[in-house]
Amino acid sequence: MQLPRLPFTPEQASTVSTEVDALYTYLVAITLFFSLLVTVLILYFAVKYRRRSENDLPHPIAGSVKLETMWTVIPFLISMTIFVWGASLYFKLYRPPKDAIEIFVVGKQWMWKFQHTEGQREINELHVPLGAKVKLTLTTEDVIHAFAVPAFRIRSDVVPGRYTFAWFEATKPGRYALYCTEFCGTNHSGMNGWVEVMEPTAYQAWLSGGGSDSPAAQGEQLFQSLGCATCHRTDTQGRGPVLTGVFGKLQRMQGGQDVLADESYIRESIVNSTAKVVEGFQPIMPSYQGQVSEEQVLQLIAYIRSLGAPPEQQGGGTTMTNGQTGGAATTTTGIAPDTQRSNPVGPTSPQRPNATTGTGGTTQTGNANRQP
Ligand code: CUA
Repeated sequence: MQLPRLPFTPEQASTVSTEVDALYTYLVAITLFFSLLVTVLILYFAVKYRRRSENDLPHPIAGSVKLETMWTVIPFLISMTIFVWGASLYFKLYRPPKDAIEIFVVGKQWMWKFQHTEGQREINELHVPLGAKVKLTLTTEDVIHAFAVPAFRIRSDVVPGRYTFAWFEATKPGRYALYCTEFCGTNHSGMNGWVEVMEPTAYQAWLSGGGSDSPAAQGEQLFQSLGCATCHRTDTQGRGPVLTGVFGKLQRMQGGQDVLADESYIRESIVNSTAKVVEGFQPIMPSYQGQVSEEQVLQLIAYIRSLGAPPEQQGGGTTMTNGQTGGAATTTTGIAPDTQRSNPVGPTSPQRPNATTGTGGTTQTGNANRQP
């Protein structure tokens, strides 16, 4: 369905762009209609009820139930159409499909870093296949950024210490601008890049053109090199919980609270390790705050997720889509949202690419290891 586009709107290059534009056009049309109506009535009444002579006195108005009901009910019905339409589009935009390709995005003053599940890494340039659903898991090394691709009609805040999500399905090959749309410092205006939408075969060729290990494999190396494996053993004799099959399941904490082991929980367990302690264990794990970059945290999460998930959540690794739209989405699983999170865009956490084994020209130097 190709609606006529309003002037000055960007190209429509994703499955949702026509829907977003339709809603936007509807809002503009309503606004224009009522602006004109009010203007015309003001002018008309000004003429019709003008004071005709010096001793002209206005008649008192007693009110009209009919009129008042009308101007209450009609705007109410109109605003409800905006609400229902907007809400359904919002849920569609912020509930990534489960069968999507996953890409990790890390914002950093002032660049965008991407890592594909296959291991490819890029900066300010994102290659994606045409006609495939792509889910972005976003976080930042430093300040708040916002990731936006106008041609896809997507935008997501990128918040320190938190994972947000966006998804799209590109419908036209080509190059589309991506922007940071949150003021983030001196070079905010230069924090741009391109999304390159490729034919699936060309994308496959591009994917196989080298790259580093997958995030999960890099996470496993980290898991060993950081010594995590000495406590988180695969048998039950370790000083920390066994991590196999934990991802995506409820975990019982000390004090009886059940917490969903999602990306956010795992991130917190790494950087603020004693915030939640699994029942039956001691709060002895050191914090890794400052020792692992956000990209490395993402890799560790990817590794832990690869250790197994509940049967209904296997496949594609997109296990955490349920909780991502905030409270509303959690009703589908019956799982309580993490009460510490208020971000409607996504209460789950990110996985990341490895900062220590960066290849292909990705810059892993300088403040790459800075923590939020
Ligand atoms: Cu990053 Cu503005």
